[in-house]
Amino acid sequence: MSATPASTPAIALKGVSRRFTDPGGGEVGVRTTDLVVPQGEIHGIIGFSGAGKSTLLRLANLLERPDAGEVIVHGQNLTRLSAAGLRQARHRIGMIFQHFNLLHNQTVAENVALPMRIAGASPAHIKKRVATCLDFVGLAAKADVYPGRLSGGQKQRVAIARALAPEPHVLLADEPTSALDPRTTLDLLDVLADANRQFGVTILLVSHEMEVVRRLCHRVSVMEGGRIVEQLDIANGAIPEGSRLASWLADFGAVGPAASPSPTQSEAAAPAPHHFALEAAHA
Ligand SMILES: Nc1ncnc2c1ncn2[C@@H]1O[C@H](COP(=O)(O)OP(=O)(O)OP(=O)(O)O)[C@@H](O)[C@H]1O
Ligand SMILES: [Mg+2]
Repeated sequence: MSATPASTPAIALKGVSRRFTDPGGGEVGVRTTDLVVPQGEIHGIIGFSGAGKSTLLRLANLLERPDAGEVIVHGQNLTRLSAAGLRQARHRIGMIFQHFNLLHNQTVAENVALPMRIAGASPAHIKKRVATCLDFVGLAAKADVYPGRLSGGQKQRVAIARALAPEPHVLLADEPTSALDPRTTLDLLDVLADANRQFGVTILLVSHEMEVVRRLCHRVSVMEGGRIVEQLDIANGAIPEGSRLASWLADFGAVGPAASPSPTQSEAAAPAPHHFALEAAHA
C-alpha cells in the first residue's frame, strides 16, 4: 500500500512533549517521550486517567502540536510541514473516537465520503471507496440511512469505514470501544484486526480496557505521569511476569488466564472486556 520502505516506522515520536498547567499550578500532559511504531503493528497505550494517553495519541497527527520534539509518520516529518502540507499528510492518518463523531444530518454514505470529498477526490473514486469500505464493515445495506437510526456498534463501524476510506497508512483510535457493550466491543475488535491484516494499516490505540489491549495489540506502552514507563510485547496474549503491567493487574485483582491471542478466535467463550478501573485506584 505504501511506497515507504518497510523498515521506515509508521509512527516515530522523537523527544516529544506537550505540557499543560493544571489548576493547582502543576505540570501535566506529555513529558519528553519517544515512541516508535513499526509499519503493520497494532500498538496499545494504556494507563491511569490523566496519564497523557490521549495527548500522546493526538501528537501523532498534530491535533496537539508538541512543545518540543519531532513527529514523523511514514518518513514524513509532520512538525516541519506547512499548513497545506499537514492537511495533505493527515489524509493518510485516520482517526476514530469514543463517541464516533458522525454528522447526524448526513447519511452513512455521506459521512464516509466526507474526508475524501474534503481531499478533493473524484466522485467516481469516492463512490467506489464508500461502497468498498461500507462493505468491509458490513454496513452496505445502511448506506442511505442517517446515523440516528444506528446502534452504537454500527455508528463506530461507520466511523471506521470513514477513517479507512482515504486508504490511510495509520489509524489512531482513542477509546474506540468504551461506549460499547462487551459483545459489540469484540465485534469491533475483529473489524480493526481485519483492517490491520487486509489493508496493512498500522493502528495506535488508547484503551482503558485491558482485554481490548490484550486481544488486539501486538505491543503495549504503559503511560504514567506523562511518560511511557514500560513497553511490552503482548502479541502472544500473555502479560510478561515481573512487568509493571502484571503487578498493576495483580494489585487490581485482574490477573486471569491470558486471552486468545487472535481476535478471530475470540468468539463465544470470550469474557467481558475488563475495565481497568484505573481512575478509582488513582483517586
Ligand atoms: N487542552 C488541555 N488543556 C489543559 N490541560 C490539558 C489539556 N489536554 C489535556 N490536559 C491535561 O493533561 C493531562 C493528560 O490528559 P490526557 O487527556 O492526555 O489524559 P488521558 O490519559 O487520556 O486520560 P483519560 O484516561 O481520562 O482519557 C490531564 O491532566 C489533562 O487534564
Ligand atoms: Mg484520554
